[in-house]
Amino acid sequence: MRTSLSPRRADADLATLYARVRGLSEALVAPLSDADASVQSMPDASPAKWHLAHTSWFFETFVLRDGVPGYALFDDRFPFLFNSYYEAEGSRHARDRRGMITRPSLAEVLAYRRHVDAALIAALCDLPTAIRELVTLGCHHEQQHQELLLTDLLHLMAQNPVEPAVWTGGAKVPVGMPGRLGWLEHPGGVVEIGHDGAGFAFDCETPRHQTLLAPHALADRTVTNGEWAAFIADGGYADPRHWLSDGWAWVKGNAIAAPLYWEQREGGWTRFGLDGRRAIDPAAPVTHVSFYEADAYAAWAGARLPTEAEWEVAAAPFDPAGGNQLDAAGPVEPRPATEGHGFYGDVWEWTGSAYRPYPGFRAAEGAVGEYNGKFMSGQCVLRGSSCATPRGHSRASYRNFFYPHQRWQFTGLRLAKDL
Ligand SMILES: [Fe+2]
Repeated sequence: MRTSLSPRRADADLATLYARVRGLSEALVAPLSDADASVQSMPDASPAKWHLAHTSWFFETFVLRDGVPGYALFDDRFPFLFNSYYEAEGSRHARDRRGMITRPSLAEVLAYRRHVDAALIAALCDLPTAIRELVTLGCHHEQQHQELLLTDLLHLMAQNPVEPAVWTGGAKVPVGMPGRLGWLEHPGGVVEIGHDGAGFAFDCETPRHQTLLAPHALADRTVTNGEWAAFIADGGYADPRHWLSDGWAWVKGNAIAAPLYWEQREGGWTRFGLDGRRAIDPAAPVTHVSFYEADAYAAWAGARLPTEAEWEVAAAPFDPAGGNQLDAAGPVEPRPATEGHGFYGDVWEWTGSAYRPYPGFRAAEGAVGEYNGKFMSGQCVLRGSSCATPRGHSRASYRNFFYPHQRWQFTGLRLAKDL
């Protein structure tokens, strides 16, 4: 997290990052009514208003309360409402009842944000180093919530029978054919993965360490909608031979027959997005598939999912700020690859790796030690970034994680095979 910049320059850079991140969150909710921002569509998703308030609570608690003498809380009821999962911060409102918080209003939450912003910017230059690092952490935390805000909003709108478009004027989906699939070969051997210490990283990306790869190849792009439609047409969802046992139980128990938000209409498959319902683009990366679906597709295709180490080694030479990622509010969606290998942007890529600590992992000190480590059970690692990931947020060592049945994020896959 430390930089070699002069203190004044580092202050200016951090203030710029803070202002940019905070501004984008508010741009994302500009089209929303108070009702749009208050409803919770499922326990996994949170209202947009809750994301706006919770990210402010993070700065208020760990930076202003703990690092600025004399700071007075904006509202002493808010910590109970907007603490997410920090046991060290005491009791909190139930996660699956966040949609009941119709008050404070959206306007009051935006006022809360202005209060926190003014106090933080005023204090920034005088903060001790350890607290400044929590400002940086808070910015990366808010970027994670920006992606969740968009995917939670998409899930909410998808529950509405009239299928509202949050944004209009998105690019008309071109009808293309999937590009040819090539393979990136690796001879295997001992490699290093994990964050190398330059710039920000979450604790779960460390320590950098050696690991052994077998000779293998990764596909040079992600699986497309057109290829997924062929999997469906071949009976992929109806043949238990492709599926893990847990995955098959999930398919049968939930009558799963296509990616989330897909529907067959006259004329073929369609998908719902933040710009409403449109025909799928066969050449665009498939998204909103679970780990179970990704694993079944790979089995059907005679391949497997990459390990996270294979992915990181292959992606390391490429620019993590490249590709189709979030720059501004609008109807984000995966687009057909036009250049490069597409390791970043469009869709997060499921790997076959469990989200577990690296050898020698130590959680961060203090309450923020609850940030990652306590979730290292039963979840799978995703790599890369998506069309909803704020540009600049991801990197080669970044470890995203979700449970194997979850698919409301922009999740897709890339094939791998042994050589
Ligand atoms: Fe959070």
